[in-house]
Amino acid sequence: MTQVEAQRLVELAKRRGFFLQSAGAYGGISGFYTYGPQGAALKRNVEDTWRDRFAIQEGHMEVDAPTVLPEPVFEASGHLDGFDDMLVECPECSESHRADHIIEDDPDTGIEEAESLAPERVEEVIAEYELVCPTCGTGLAGQAIEQFNLMFETNIGPGSSSPGYLRPETAQGIFIEFPQLAEYARNQLPFGVTQIGRAYRNEISPRKSLLRVREFSQAELELFVDPEEDEPDLSSVADVSARFYPATAQDCEGGGVIETTIAEAVDHGIVADPWIAYYLGVAAEWYDRIGLDMDRFRFRQHRPGELAHYSEDCWDAEGDVSDPGEDPDWIELGGFAYRADYDLSKHDSHSEEEFTIFKQYDDPVTVETPTVDPDMSYLGPEFGGAAGDVAAALETLAADDPDAFEGEEVTVEVDDESYTVPVEQTGFAVEEVTESGEHVTPHVVEPSLGIDRALYTALDHSYREDEVDGEQRTYLSLPPEVAPTTVGVFPLMDKDGLGERARELAQDLRATGLAVTYDDSGAIGRRYRRQDEVGTPYCVTVDYDTLEDGTVTIRDRDSTTQRRVAIETLGATIEALVEGEQAFEDI
Ligand code: GAP
Repeated sequence: MTQVEAQRLVELAKRRGFFLQSAGAYGGISGFYTYGPQGAALKRNVEDTWRDRFAIQEGHMEVDAPTVLPEPVFEASGHLDGFDDMLVECPECSESHRADHIIEDDPDTGIEEAESLAPERVEEVIAEYELVCPTCGTGLAGQAIEQFNLMFETNIGPGSSSPGYLRPETAQGIFIEFPQLAEYARNQLPFGVTQIGRAYRNEISPRKSLLRVREFSQAELELFVDPEEDEPDLSSVADVSARFYPATAQDCEGGGVIETTIAEAVDHGIVADPWIAYYLGVAAEWYDRIGLDMDRFRFRQHRPGELAHYSEDCWDAEGDVSDPGEDPDWIELGGFAYRADYDLSKHDSHSEEEFTIFKQYDDPVTVETPTVDPDMSYLGPEFGGAAGDVAAALETLAADDPDAFEGEEVTVEVDDESYTVPVEQTGFAVEEVTESGEHVTPHVVEPSLGIDRALYTALDHSYREDEVDGEQRTYLSLPPEVAPTTVGVFPLMDKDGLGERARELAQDLRATGLAVTYDDSGAIGRRYRRQDEVGTPYCVTVDYDTLEDGTVTIRDRDSTTQRRVAIETLGATIEALVEGEQAFEDI
């Protein structure tokens, strides 16, 4: 999409009620958007399809956690220390900018991903290419790069004794409830927990309308798996085809995007983890379902320096929001991360609860367990204040290297000092213990999709301009399932009973669950154009023949062709069209 077309889309979005910058009456608030009536309906439909595909069809749970969480949660998760962007302040106008974006936006640098560069290198690149402040054009060479934490801080309750943060990802609300959620799942792995909700990031420079904002919606699935045993059944997505851009291809000259199926991507080792591959397949189907042009869509693997602090491997879903024919402008729509046991281990060690699953063995196993029971009446007088640490060191040594207790004496190191203890004073013994299972920390596979970016890209990819009856027309070719309104109902004119009949028909269609709008203002052509602009796939007109023979015309948005349909079959026909069970040409 060119700048001009992007601007047209944003104007259409405001004029027709999709989205607008919030608080315009107070000068506007950067990075915050309000969804209008069309946008709120579109967003709800997009979220419903996500819920259907990622939660209901997969048999996963859904939760709804708070958006504010206390500081210890983010100490444990690593967000307090590691969730930073690089900030550079202009010495002239004092505007703050994301230093990595300034580098990426200058084609001379040839750097497409600057987020993974060290701050010192960012300073060097800014100086080397004489990069300037995007606001006032002043040179930024020599300006210090600061690490800026993206979380919004608040106080929970009066005073400042209990700091809290607006969640920067919905995921933490799921992880911290893991012990209880595991109970709901009857402690059986694998199980998945989904959540759709708001997340907050105090972005240094929000930009590109909905694409980088400070409050946005995420749809996340945290899938808890046993890394030793669980494997996905790939059969349902094996034939899903997509474009893959592996890390190795990004780093080598001539490396390119590989178009292949999920099954082949796994077989050829393009996507190493089968769980990630499975959800790439599910997501490709979902992005297609909500109206993305899959020729302008790809999965790109993170290069090692790009990985988030919690992630072992990650693929992004990316959509191109440039005008076809121009250089692609890829934006990240979603991340598919293998978080391993990072989050559960952190919350396990920072909290009072256990973040593990007790895995029952098929048959109990007997294991030999080396133990010590040191004689403190010997260690105390012998080693004084170090006696307790020596006892602990003996316990560790028994577990790690029981053979060390085979001689007369055993030696342990405490604070760089060696302590030698007669084995008979250590109480060393090997006990036989029968165990029925073990505690394991599940690994996490996380598809995390941004709703606002998906919605914006669906609008971008469905934006069309053409000519109808010699007149310029703009329309949104949104899939009927997600379009804010499914049917527009018009009387040819609001007289001779046509208006009453059309209102009655609109009401009857609403009663079947369809999203219907009624419009009797202006010429019929204008009413079609209004519905085309908000992506309404079907318009139904009540005319004089309706009063005679009980039929109406139904018009298809994209082709503008019309058919005559009996009112009794209209609801069923529209339903079949929306479900994709019938083609408009076959009516
Ligand atoms: N729990 C993992 C996580 O939060 P992420 O890649 O940081 O991963 C996931 O975010 C998705 O959230 C992104 O792919 C993007 O679609 C969306 N997102 C992140 N920051 C955003 C922002 N400032 N504005 C709009 N969407 C954003």
